[in-house]
Amino acid sequence: MEFKTEFIQKLKTSKNIMVFTGAGMSAESGIATFRGKDGLWNKLKPEELASFNAFMKNPDMVWEWYQYRRKIVENTEPNPGHYAIVELEKYYEVNVVTQNVDNLHARAGSKNIEELHGSIVRNFCMDCRTFYNDLKLESEKTVPRCEKCNGLIRPDVVWFGENLRGNAFPNSEKKAKECDLCFVIGTTAIIYPAAYIPMTAKQYGAYLVEINIENTDLSYQADYSIFGKAGEILPEIVRLVKEDVFTN
Ligand code: APR
Repeated sequence: MEFKTEFIQKLKTSKNIMVFTGAGMSAESGIATFRGKDGLWNKLKPEELASFNAFMKNPDMVWEWYQYRRKIVENTEPNPGHYAIVELEKYYEVNVVTQNVDNLHARAGSKNIEELHGSIVRNFCMDCRTFYNDLKLESEKTVPRCEKCNGLIRPDVVWFGENLRGNAFPNSEKKAKECDLCFVIGTTAIIYPAAYIPMTAKQYGAYLVEINIENTDLSYQADYSIFGKAGEILPEIVRLVKEDVFTN
């Protein structure tokens, strides 16, 4: 695979890399994306499944849907793209900022991860905020109740209409301002505030590289768009870094 000379040059001079990922990052692990040809939101309505109102209206249905997704995630593996990002840590400071809730970056071994939209493997009590990190599949069809206060337990994911929780966003913003190169991988980049992160990186001088199978809203801002699958392109980039960037 041939890469743009300017990009190779940036790989040579960069020290700090941000990797901003979306559902397309995990597509090759067998997890459906939200939009696009086979996207989940073509068949299902996000406001009926991934919103606070949906949960309050029909908590068992929403719980069952997350249990179903959790099962898919548990039965899949990180793909070569996830592992390539881990490899980059040998050569750069790497910060992953992900919109994915599937935990695959962590399972692949990435060290620094900000989960903007939470994680499907965590749950918390809506009343007393006790966390249940490893609530397995024992409660498949009905929402479990908190052991301490009997409150409803919900997945620690950010639903439509909700604010991002914790420090994930400010941490990501800080890291975006500091990076030299920012990869934007497998995301339509239309959900805010998450999509501000790569834009902030660019605004603060980072070289923006998009990896996607098609054009997105962010493509016109990218310094370089690489068309193809994340699980194929990223290992090629690691090969380039190993063979060319750090040997010449
Ligand atoms: N490699 C690279 N890109 C891919 C691949 C692949 N193998 N497969 C699909 N893509 C791209 C698609 O072209 C699309 O641009 O991944 C992107 C997936 O976009 P979305 O489904 O919109 O996912 P994402 O951008 O992560 O969605 C953002 O929306 O529903 C919410 O909270 C949810 O975090 C999610 C947010």
